[in-house]
Amino acid sequence: MIFVTGGAGFIGANFVLDWLAQSDEPVINFDKLTYAGNLNNLASLKGDARHIFVQGDINYGEKVAALLAQYQPRAILHFAAESHVDRSIHGPAAFVNTNINGTFSLLEASKVYWQNLPEPQKSAFRFLHVSTDEVYGTLSAEDPPFSETTAYAPNSPYSASKAASDHLVRAYHHTYGLPTLTTNCSNNYGGYHFPEKLIPLMITNARSGKDLPVYGDGMQVRDWLYVNDHCSAIRRVLEGGRIGETYNVGGWNEQSNLSVVHILCDLLDQLQPKANGSYRDQIKHVTDRPGHDRRYAIDARKIEKELGWKPTETFETGLRKTVAWYLANDEWVSQVQSGDYLKWVSLQYNKNAEVA
Ligand code: NAD
Ligand code: DAU
Repeated sequence: MIFVTGGAGFIGANFVLDWLAQSDEPVINFDKLTYAGNLNNLASLKGDARHIFVQGDINYGEKVAALLAQYQPRAILHFAAESHVDRSIHGPAAFVNTNINGTFSLLEASKVYWQNLPEPQKSAFRFLHVSTDEVYGTLSAEDPPFSETTAYAPNSPYSASKAASDHLVRAYHHTYGLPTLTTNCSNNYGGYHFPEKLIPLMITNARSGKDLPVYGDGMQVRDWLYVNDHCSAIRRVLEGGRIGETYNVGGWNEQSNLSVVHILCDLLDQLQPKANGSYRDQIKHVTDRPGHDRRYAIDARKIEKELGWKPTETFETGLRKTVAWYLANDEWVSQVQSGDYLKWVSLQYNKNAEVA
């Protein structure tokens, strides 16, 4: 079986659902259930004996160690993190606590577990760390995309905490021989995406007649990847990745934020037209994010060359599926837009004055 951390969040839940749709190998899903963790994401697995959910914090090393001893997983896939850049600007402590200290505790428990495994389980064991392209910092329009050898230059408390976790993972491989793999992926989108992030926020705000808050000039660029393509990349790296290596994962799909918001509005205009006008009328430029990275882009040639992985979804098909998912899942949306969510929206967006 495999041990997944953060499997009730956006990517982790998509990964668990995808995994169990393709294999009968059980999953232990260890998640703290922060505001971002949601058991409704896993509702379709209710009663499925292949999914064992345990609520807990990765900082609680003894609990992790006990679960590893009990279930003897062949791999640990580490998704758990605080993941939202804007929240890291308001409150960086939680990011240091989970992304750095939590990863450290998890690595310690994993190291002891792995060191005591008999062969051949010891040689087969893998620790796969799910990380981000944000560790590389920001690109200008002319720069080549991030490769695995680009120097780390994180700019937000979130990306700095992820960079630190990557370094710890690297050190546990080099110092102790822990068989690690690291993936650095670009921006994901798809179903079950918490509506604090750009794409689900724009879809849900548009449908409720609210402003569509574009930071600054909206010309920041991200490289978008459909979440199921990220899941398949992680599976490929787990199966065939070289121990101690890092693999960049991306969609070869650079888009400015404004262009993403325009496409979403146009899709909604087709799929759920308003009585009057276009959803584009709701776009509002607001104060920029402090320290906002201008451009991310991933050079995903290594994973393609070594492991034969390429994204399969185009942005057109992926976004259409995503908008359709939100249109079909009103109940999920209203459940996550709870008291805590409303507090966050008020903290983040009421301060932003309109600038254009
Ligand atoms: P998310 O915020 O949606 O989910 C994070 C999950 O981790 C939640 O279920 C939460 O309850 C859990 N968690 C948080 N702190 C925990 C703790 N201390 N112990 C146990 N569980 C805890 O995040 P996501 O967008 O699904 O991202 C998953 C991983 O992928 C993160 O490591 C993130 O850095 C990385 N990543 C995300 C993206 C993206 O576009 N979302 C892109 C590249 C990499
Ligand atoms: O690149 C990978 C990273 O992508 C992941 O590591 C992070 O976990 C994930 O949150 C994401 O980070 P971003 O900061 O790029 O994603 P976000 O959806 O927050 O913002 C995408 C872009 O849209 C960014 O340039 C900021 C902008 N934006 C975002 C919000 C929430 C807006 O213009 N308005 C908004 O309201």
